Amino acid sequence: MVVAAAASQEILKPHLAIDGGHSLRGEIRVSGAKNSALVLMTAALLTEEPVELCNVPALTDIAGMCSILESLGMRVSRRDDRITLTADALNGTEPPYELVNSLRASFFSIGPLLGRLGHARVPLPGGCRIGARPVVEHIRGLKALGAVVDVRHGIVTASIPGRRNRLNGAQIVLDCPSVGATETILMAAVLADGVSTIENAAQEPEVQDLANLLNSMGAKISGAGGPLITIEGVAQLHGCRNYPVIPDRIEAGTFLMAAAITRSTLHVTPVIPEHLSAVLQKLRDCGCVLEVNGDGLTITPGDIQAVDITTQPFPGFPTDLQAPFMALMATAKGTSVISEKIYENRMQHVGELQRMGASIRLEGSTAIVEGVPFLGSAPVTGSDLRASAAMVLAGLSANGTTQVSGLKHLDRGYDNIEAKLTRCGARINRHNG
Ligand code: EPZ
Repeated sequence: MVVAAAASQEILKPHLAIDGGHSLRGEIRVSGAKNSALVLMTAALLTEEPVELCNVPALTDIAGMCSILESLGMRVSRRDDRITLTADALNGTEPPYELVNSLRASFFSIGPLLGRLGHARVPLPGGCRIGARPVVEHIRGLKALGAVVDVRHGIVTASIPGRRNRLNGAQIVLDCPSVGATETILMAAVLADGVSTIENAAQEPEVQDLANLLNSMGAKISGAGGPLITIEGVAQLHGCRNYPVIPDRIEAGTFLMAAAITRSTLHVTPVIPEHLSAVLQKLRDCGCVLEVNGDGLTITPGDIQAVDITTQPFPGFPTDLQAPFMALMATAKGTSVISEKIYENRMQHVGELQRMGASIRLEGSTAIVEGVPFLGSAPVTGSDLRASAAMVLAGLSANGTTQVSGLKHLDRGYDNIEAKLTRCGARINRHNG
């Protein structure tokens, strides 16, 4: 009785109703990268001149970042996939807690605010469902550049001491190749006095995209995309026109897995294969044929076999595709071992996949997945952004109609996902409850 009541409650929430078992075909478009666009937007704090980004995805996280930047006095104008950001009248340096807490990436604004204005006060972002997510490395980097940093009552206050109005170049060695810490330090160091280096830096394509934007604004950065980044500080930066955000490799990977789980041939575009090399290798290993085709990839799945994955910093297998890949492995031939090494609590999709008939045993942050011939439909909830994507994939392959709720997570990182999949033959309806 209680289960039925709970299930009916689920159906009342905003959800996607997915009729499974339909193959996909044709071409699916990949939007600009969420995890690049968010940090590129904060980089506009570094100059008073307009910074124009294009290929910006339509996501709730992007809207959230616009609100945070506007709360600091940034002028933001949007048209289609373009955003123009002008920080010529910043009125303060403390974004509101409730906004920062809902969008971790906004913490990275502490770098450009400190680097340009010499002070910043930013609420600690706090943890989230997938892990504690500390910002120790961000703070350590800012201190190495000469800032005085104080963490009190949940607020991080950073300032340049004395009469100086610039940070000092410094050699920084990160304890872990944190994407956010690398980006925060990069944005602080570009206006520092002297040369800085970041060793054990994050090598993600989004870090490279940030360095490319900053260089087109007059910065002097070399080595981004590798483990050692060098930044020669400059006195000021200028604006930039029409900077295109890179395609979203995580959205592209999700669509490749949607094709594999429905055993469909699909063209996914645009994709930069080097941004997904570890993922493409695992898709080949599990039985898919991948062809580079124009600025995209065509995937033709064979008989999907179980393969093991371990999530790692780039160029390893991305943690953000662990959940979607597990949904695929739940329907593969054989047993796969999936180890999550980046976040301590990113296995919440396991319970929901089990509700759909998946055979998964969890040992800490390792899942042993024994593939089953078919998943069955059920009301399921996505507990975080990528878990929600895994539910959508499982729903595409399951017998019957699956109700996926938790859409507020999904919409943070996937731009009109049901419309894109429906154009390729999926049967998905959104119910706003
Ligand atoms: C970025 O988060 C992405 N978010 C995440 O994507 C992604 O999962 C992550 O990089 C790893 O690839 C954005 O870019 C907005 P990290 P970030 O700092 O920068 C530990 C998604 O689904 N760590 O590289 O916050 C940390 O706890 C999201 O789109 C420290 O220990 O990630 C984590 O275990 C989720 N100390 C690991 O490093 C620090 O000071 C990786 O975190 C900083 C991080």
